[in-house]
Amino acid sequence: MDQTMDSYHEPVLATECVRMLAPAASGVVVDGTFGGGGHTRRLLDAYPEIRIVGIDRDPDAVANTPDDPRVRVVLGNFTDIERIVHDELGSPPDGSGTVDGVLLDLGISSHQVDAASRGFSYHRSGPIDMRMGMDVSESAGDIVNEYDRDDLRDLIRRFGEERFAGRIADAIVAARPLSDTTALASVIANAVPAAARRSGHPARKTFQALRIATNAELDALSAGLESAIQILRPGGRICVISYHSLEDRIVKRRIAAGTTGCVCPPELPVCGCDQIQELEDLGRFRPSVEEIARNPRARSAIMRVAEKVPA
Ligand SMILES: C[S@@+](CC[C@H](N)C(=O)[O-])C[C@H]1O[C@@H](n2cnc3c(N)ncnc32)[C@H](O)[C@@H]1O
Repeated sequence: MDQTMDSYHEPVLATECVRMLAPAASGVVVDGTFGGGGHTRRLLDAYPEIRIVGIDRDPDAVANTPDDPRVRVVLGNFTDIERIVHDELGSPPDGSGTVDGVLLDLGISSHQVDAASRGFSYHRSGPIDMRMGMDVSESAGDIVNEYDRDDLRDLIRRFGEERFAGRIADAIVAARPLSDTTALASVIANAVPAAARRSGHPARKTFQALRIATNAELDALSAGLESAIQILRPGGRICVISYHSLEDRIVKRRIAAGTTGCVCPPELPVCGCDQIQELEDLGRFRPSVEEIARNPRARSAIMRVAEKVPA
């Protein structure tokens, strides 16, 4: 990799993340979205005895593995976090209860957005690809060119929360075949009313929707969260950084579900609900005005943190 780690991606909410993972200072943290390794490097600098297992779907990210005996980086999906932790740490087969911290910094890296050939950017001409890794078979271009109109509209509405999804789907179907990201962006821009073009780039939400669908990001998040909570030891912490409301909602609900203990009426002699509190909610964090000024990509970030409580 001919980039420095910080030019690959500037880590978001890094100070807060390092502080909240302090209980893992002499333990193991899984950085499930290694990217440019920015968070990992901050953790290594702050905690000399820490060990990190990094995971990323993207081979470009794995090429950033630092030359440091405390770090291992694995090409894979964080949905496989239990197996990966087992392989790397020789923990029990289900990988349960062995890890002191997990970080998931969701979405894509600046490197992925900036590389035109990856097809994530509506500003840069490139193939309509958007696959985070080669484990994904169907590209965003396949979706754009092959989905029927109603499926395309539903996908844009659901994953982009785009109110003009129907008009955009009509325009895409009429313009097929589409092979270039900037051509797709201009088809979308021409499909939305002029007034809507004034609030941010008109293709932003549709590109977000295509990216989420291509990489099955929300399913990966739900499954990955479940496995990440499984592998935490009591007292271990999970930090999840989201960049849009669809992601944040999943994280918020999972943490809320985990913080709920027995809901039986107090007069019941024994618990019949079998609901056990597994998490303590340690709160949500937003970037400071200074961080957003330095790194505008932090603007929409929300980090939620929870701690595994003893069973
Ligand atoms: C926002 S970047 C992480 C940046 C990193 N924290 C840093 O400071 O450099 C997100 C990374 O997560 C990876 N990623 C997204 N979803 C993933 C998944 N389900 N499994 C593994 N990696 C994933 C992407 O390929 C990307 O490299």
